[in-house]
Parts: sequence; structure tokens; C-alpha cells
Amino acid sequence: MGTENRSLKLTMKPAQKQLVDALITAGVVTSPVTRAAIAEANVACGKSASVPSWILHDQSRRAGRGLFHVPEVAGGGHETPAPAAAPVVQPAAPVESPVQTAPPPAAAPSATLALTGGESATLVPNRMRTYVPFGHFDDMERIVMSGLFYPCFVTGLSGNGKTTMVEQICAKHNREFYRVNITCQTDEDDLLGGFRLINGETVWCDGPVVAAMKNGGVLLLDEIDLASHAIMCLQPVLEGKGVFLKKIGQWVQPAAGFQIFATANTKGKGDESGKFAATNVLNEAFLDRFPVCVEQEYPEMSTEKKIVTAVMKSLGLGEKEDKDFGKHLCKWSNEIRTLYFADGVDEIVTTRRVVNIVTAYSMFRDRRKAIQMGVTRFDAATQESFISLYEKIDAAAQVAPEESGEVARYDLDSTFDQKDEVKQAIRMLGGNTRERFDPVKKKWWITQAEKDTGAFEAWNPAPVYETATESEEAPW
Ligand SMILES: Nc1ncnc2c1ncn2[C@@H]1O[C@H](COP(=O)(O)OP(=O)(O)O)[C@@H](O)[C@H]1O
Ligand SMILES: [Mg+2]
Repeated sequence: MGTENRSLKLTMKPAQKQLVDALITAGVVTSPVTRAAIAEANVACGKSASVPSWILHDQSRRAGRGLFHVPEVAGGGHETPAPAAAPVVQPAAPVESPVQTAPPPAAAPSATLALTGGESATLVPNRMRTYVPFGHFDDMERIVMSGLFYPCFVTGLSGNGKTTMVEQICAKHNREFYRVNITCQTDEDDLLGGFRLINGETVWCDGPVVAAMKNGGVLLLDEIDLASHAIMCLQPVLEGKGVFLKKIGQWVQPAAGFQIFATANTKGKGDESGKFAATNVLNEAFLDRFPVCVEQEYPEMSTEKKIVTAVMKSLGLGEKEDKDFGKHLCKWSNEIRTLYFADGVDEIVTTRRVVNIVTAYSMFRDRRKAIQMGVTRFDAATQESFISLYEKIDAAAQVAPEESGEVARYDLDSTFDQKDEVKQAIRMLGGNTRERFDPVKKKWWITQAEKDTGAFEAWNPAPVYETATESEEAPW
């Protein structure tokens, strides 16, 4: 027991350990502990006279009215009955459970603390300073605010803010957000819960779906179209009727406020584009349990500009030059999307990628490099066409002529008095002297072949590079 509690303490956060120590100092060495004793210990830690959230919001610590399991206090040889890991078995559904024969387990770590690595007892996400609501945000927000159970399926191409939208609605409304990323291997055990080996003992741990149900949280089944048929265990949950945990014989009813969102790149009917590998056709009856399905589009250019501006601000960018880049970047992503939907290109630039390009720009302060880094994952032809499209939009990102290697001609630094000498040298090599004088630069110029003769060295031939020619043709 002592060993077990020591290991428990080792995994405690400093604030948690401080409270446990304060309880022990106050003579509380057995669990459960009263609300008053915890509040007093909290005051001794210099905090308010209340039960801290890591205990209050941890369902597995509830030991009855005004009582909480705090087995960590049981140091110094005091025996403390550990809390029952398995919640009460409903008489209507008696099932043989391994919990009944297992030795009394240690406190089942709450899904909340486990999900946050013990960092926080709340799953309310932080608000993103850079978040700009758009698309279906208002409708989805209204559904969450209604408190009604109304599962929503959000479909749309990658990186256009589906996941972030649900997260930020929760952040705005102080709602717990249970995000579960679904894969073809996700099963009942991952979703509803299962037995875990904790400190040498087998303990039932609620899965995120059950935790969200019990706490009235917002459950996000992210990338649901990657699921196998194992996802069908959620059928009753999607009906809002509660679920029976057959392994521990417990019936769990959803608490008020429980809500489900699912996101996916497809509509759950498979992927014809071949872009979303491993997506599956979902069971029709499963899909039918989502009363609403919305299609998330990429943000409009004006919205994406707001996002880019906010991201730039958060990265300390805001000079005219930065704003200029942001403006061109959004035009570029927007044009690529238009082309993509017109079958002009095979790849798309997502909002996620745009944000990543801004981040690269903040580090390198080089537009072209940032774009280059952002498109490197595409094949060579796509990279080239995306970069040249950007250069067409933003002349400032064109490769410096010196780097292009394409010499158009050589300018001579001859003086006005030397003009006849120059003319004669050109003619001697068979060159035409007409149009060899640049009236704007007021310089004579020669060709590469003429320069190679070495006859013009006295006038320091300086290379003039090809500039990108304005072509009417599209660069792809
Ligand atoms: N409305 C928004 N405001 C600000 N940034 C956003 C917004 N939507 C998306 N982003 C940016 O795009 C990234 C990808 O969004 P995400 O929600 O993961 O896309 P999806 O789930 O559609 O694949 C986010 O991490 C964020 O940087
Ligand atoms: Mg997502």
C-alpha cells in the first residue's frame, strides 16, 4: 500500500501534492475525505476554501455526498480503503465483472486527468487568439447553446477548420471538449472504456465517450470516416439514450449538455477522389443517426486574410511588407482553390498550409522560401506551377535575376565619346549596330557570343538577366 501511494504521489502535480501534504499535516490520513477537510487544506495551501477542480470534477473520486476519495493521503502505514473503481452495478443488469473478483483497485484515474496528463481537471479548450469564425460556426454554436442533443456531422476537405470550429465553440462557451481521433483500429474499448493495468491492478477506466456522457461534455469523433464497423457500438449513444457498459454491468445515461460532433473528409460514403486513403463507407443506419450534416468550405479570401492577419499579429508580424505578403498569399491560395475545383490542378492549398507558410515566413522573412517550404510536399510539376503562380501574383517573390542564370545581353560602360569605337567593334564581328543602343539606360550592349571574343573587355561587359516574361498562358 505504501509503495503504491508513493508511486501515486510521484505522478502528482506540485499543486496536488501540496494539498495532499496539507491534508496529512492536518491529520487526515484516511480516505474518503470530507469536503470541509479538503477545503480547509486548500486554505492552508493559500487558496480558496473550496475543493480543487482536480478532485471535484473527477467522477472517480466521488465517494458520496460531501465525501471524496483521496487515497494519496494514506501514507505512513495508515490503511485507506481504496475507492471502488467500477461504478455501481445497476440491479437491472447484473453481469459477471472481473472487478468483483479483483483486489480492491486504486483510484481509477479520471478520463479528464488522464486526457490532460494530470495537467488539468478540465477539458475546456483554450480560446485561440487567431480564430476567425466563419462557415457553419454560428449554426453549430447555436446547437451547442441549445443544450439539446443533436449530433452533427461536419464534412469537408482537409485543413479548412472543421476540428477547430468545434473546439472553439467549446472554448467560447466553456464546454468540455472530448476529442477522439478515430482510426480503423478504434474499438469499443477505446471509446467506451476498458480495463487498464494501473499500479499492478486491473482497473476499469471510462473511455472518452462515457466520460463525455457522464460530464455532459461535447464529444468530437474526429475523422470518423476512418472508422471500422467497431464504431457501431456508438449506435445507442447517438440516439441519446445512454449506453450499457457490458463489461462492468453499468448503464450510463448522458448528462444534460452532452453533444456529439463528427468530422470527416468524406460524407461517409467512401472516397472517389483517391485522396483520402483509408476512409471507409460507413453504415447507413449509423450515418442516419446524425440529424444534421453540414459541408465546410474553405474560407473566402476576405476571411482567410483575417486569419492570416491574426496569425501574423500573434507572430509579431505587422509591417507593410508582411501585410503585403499576407495579401498575396491569400490571393494565391484562393486562385489555387478555384483552379482545383475547375480541375486545373490536382492539389489544393489548405488553410492549415496557409497558416504554416505564414509561420515559415515569420522565421525566415523570405516570401519565396516560405512558399517553397509550403509546397515541397507536392510533386515537382505541382511545386513549379504553384511557385510560378505565386510569382505572377507577387513580383517581389521572383527569383533575383542573378540567380536565374539566363543572360539576355551584356551592357557596356563605354562613354559617349567611345560610341564609334564600340560600333566598329560590333560590326567587325558581323553584328548589326542598329538597336544596340539602349536609350533608357543610355548604354551600348553586346551579345554573349560577342562578349566571348574578349574584344569588349575594356568596356566591362555587365550581364543583364532575363526577367520573367509576361506570358498570357497559365503557368500550369
Ligand atoms: N476559423 C479559423 N480561424 C483561424 N485559424 C483557422 C481557422 N480554421 C482553421 N484554422 C487554421 O487551420 C488549421 C487547420 O484546421 P483544422 O480545424 O485542423 O482543419 P480540419 O479539421 O478541417 O482538417 C488550424 O490549426 C488553424 O491553424
Ligand atoms: Mg480535423
